[in-house]
Amino acid sequence: MVANQPCKDLLERVRTGESITPNNRKGLEDFLNYETPGSCLFTKWTYPPIIERGKNNKVWDVDGREYIDCITGMSSMNIGHADPRVAEVLKTQYMKLSHWFDFPTPERLKLARRLCEITPGDFPKKVWLGLSGADGLDAVLRLVRYHTKKTQIISFLGGYHGQNIGTMGLTTKAGMHRWYNPVPPADHGINRFPYPYTYRDIYGNDSDPEKCARACVEAIDKILCGCENTMANYPAGINNVAAIIVEPLQCSAGYIRPHDEFLRGLRRLADKHGILLVFDEIQSGMGRTGTMWGCEHSGVVPDIIVVGKALGGGVPMSAVVGRAEIFDDLAPGMSSNTYAGYALGCAVANKVLDIIEEDKLLERCRKTGKHMEKVAKEYAGRHPLVGTYDQVGVFLGIEYVRDEKKTPALEETIALCDALMDAGLLAQRNGYYGNRMSFLPTITIYEKDVDEMFAVIDKATTEIEKRFNIAARA
Ligand SMILES: Cc1ncc(COP(=O)(O)O)c(C=O)c1O
Repeated sequence: MVANQPCKDLLERVRTGESITPNNRKGLEDFLNYETPGSCLFTKWTYPPIIERGKNNKVWDVDGREYIDCITGMSSMNIGHADPRVAEVLKTQYMKLSHWFDFPTPERLKLARRLCEITPGDFPKKVWLGLSGADGLDAVLRLVRYHTKKTQIISFLGGYHGQNIGTMGLTTKAGMHRWYNPVPPADHGINRFPYPYTYRDIYGNDSDPEKCARACVEAIDKILCGCENTMANYPAGINNVAAIIVEPLQCSAGYIRPHDEFLRGLRRLADKHGILLVFDEIQSGMGRTGTMWGCEHSGVVPDIIVVGKALGGGVPMSAVVGRAEIFDDLAPGMSSNTYAGYALGCAVANKVLDIIEEDKLLERCRKTGKHMEKVAKEYAGRHPLVGTYDQVGVFLGIEYVRDEKKTPALEETIALCDALMDAGLLAQRNGYYGNRMSFLPTITIYEKDVDEMFAVIDKATTEIEKRFNIAARA
């Protein structure tokens, strides 16, 4: 049954909660009184903190509690909070020109050229600028359909690509779909396939990441080579698929890294069937994995790449970058968005790219990531609650299970998420079964910060294992 008073229940929880501090309580009450509870706040913690300020990899709540930030605005604040170099740009650019309309400005021209240069692919490229990730994916849907004159799209279970009417068809979260249902026509033509999630591979290859990756691609190929589906009639030479849209590393679904063979297989599949390949790098890009783009680990070059979140370093920015011919189809005035490419956002994005270069953040992230690899391995070895984990750079997703049968430790993970917050670390819970935690610190951190993070994670995990009687495995 649909709960008819979620907001009232939450208000009661907040008013009666014992562990909640005064200003946080007041803030949560205000939030529930003046906003919809539909934001993801209460899906993260029982009593979410109201965050007031941040500095580099730490944030502080309205009662002055300090936290290690392992959410970073879902990978938006990769270069850290409150960088004075960004603050300076905000001030000077605002005084020069903040915005006048969706028209070129020097900062915008500079950003477009740079994005074409730093994205994979040795071919002429062009850029479409937007304000959010969903904006970008929505533009992709229009661009690929218009360019190919085909309607069907291939996407993946677990994919998250935004939450507007266009992108809901790509995003596979039943809770969100319940709210949107009946999903309007944008949902039409989206074909979702399993993503390589080796630990629980749907095709049975749960101990072999490469086989799991290959099986996921082969299943699509088998269907595209037939004729009993909406996407293709291979014998008749018909293919209706405009694009494959995929996260190179699957993020919101649990921070899962597929074997490189997955992206390689998708590239071959796209070429074989004449389909455009689109990588949504909104979370996996901008240095998170130790390379500028997550897809670089596999060496695969997409036809289109979508960038968002960390590009704006704290202000709304997104970009779609791809083969020039796809963008050249649009006649003047066919695509417009009032604030798109605003001078202030472009100036900040240019500064974010400068900072990544100047501070050598990719090298730093790779080095810190090596250390995290070692520390995460030791942590997993010590804790029977850990089923598996995926880590590269400072991208870390950990799956918690009750036993050797891999029973998802849902209650335990919910409790762990709260315990981490109580101990001063903010991280998000997610996963196909709600039993994963992801840790996405800023890419500015050093080895010592990883140790600080894991000291908290380790202690909280031990506490949860004791509370839930999770026995050490033989
Ligand atoms: C991979 C991915 N694509 C798209 C989006 C949507 O971005 P936005 O929330 O800025 O619309 C997100 C947001 O979490 C994301 O993680």
